[in-house]
Amino acid sequence: KRLIFIGPPGSGKGTQSPIVKDEFCLCHLSTGDMLRAAVASKTTLGLKAKEAMDKGALVTDELVVAAVASKTTLGLKAKEAMDKGALVTDELVVGIIDEAMNKPKCQKGFILDGFPRTVAQAEKLDEMLKKRGTGIDKVLNFAIDDSVLEERITGRWIHPSSGRSYHTKFAPPKTPGVDDITGEPLIQRKDDNAEVLRSRLAAFHTQTEPVIDYYAKKAVLTNIHAEKAPQEVTSEVQKALS
Ligand code: AP5
Ligand code: ZN
Repeated sequence: KRLIFIGPPGSGKGTQSPIVKDEFCLCHLSTGDMLRAAVASKTTLGLKAKEAMDKGALVTDELVVAAVASKTTLGLKAKEAMDKGALVTDELVVGIIDEAMNKPKCQKGFILDGFPRTVAQAEKLDEMLKKRGTGIDKVLNFAIDDSVLEERITGRWIHPSSGRSYHTKFAPPKTPGVDDITGEPLIQRKDDNAEVLRSRLAAFHTQTEPVIDYYAKKAVLTNIHAEKAPQEVTSEVQKALS
């Protein structure tokens, strides 16, 4: 299965992805997680990405692509260009995503979480998949009202190295502030506050919502009632994918 999970911040993409990934043996590619890893590594790329992410703005296509592919040969080539301040060519962009999807763990399919986030990203992705003779099977739209999201975002705590996330009220860890599996401390994302959330929502409505229409026109879109309880959302997702 080749899937895209799309939805505003806090809609549950990152919560449902690991469940679906295990069920169908897919790889989970979250551009947000990859960008945060690049930020943690304090590379030029990471520092550039951090600026946009801390404000809740979108990161430029070139940075996203380089972060996604930072561990591939093509990714390193892109990084070289970017570190010099040069632009990454479209050819390189397409090659990079292609290469990321060639990874053995992505052979059975993938979940793209938080990508594509602009129509330009969606078009690039389409071109790339077309050349491979494949396409996207399904796009799940985690539809939810903005008013529910502040409580979800401000209560989220994550385990940075694994990406596992908790919620103080909706999905509390066994011991407050501590990861269930490793016992390591949990942290809050720098962009998880009410003020930055407003910018992230604005970016979603203006730049990402058109991507939903883009896939609706291709008849691959399914809407998920993302305001329900986590287990109910899981059943709805499973139904959509069966
Ligand atoms: P990214 O990391 O993708 O953040 P996001 O899109 O804002 O999404 P979130 O991770 O906040 O939400 P989620 O849907 O995964 O929620 P979760 O399941 O954790 O991107 C971060 C930044 O990176 C962007 O702002 C941008 O700057 C940059 N970026 C990333 N990709 C990019 C791209 N392609 N192009 C350009 N820039 C890019 O749930 C949230 C909380 O709610 C958790 O605590 C959870 O436990 C709880 N919860 C989940 N489901 C439920 C439920 N059903 N009921 C109650 N609580 C629930
Ligand atoms: Zn997420």
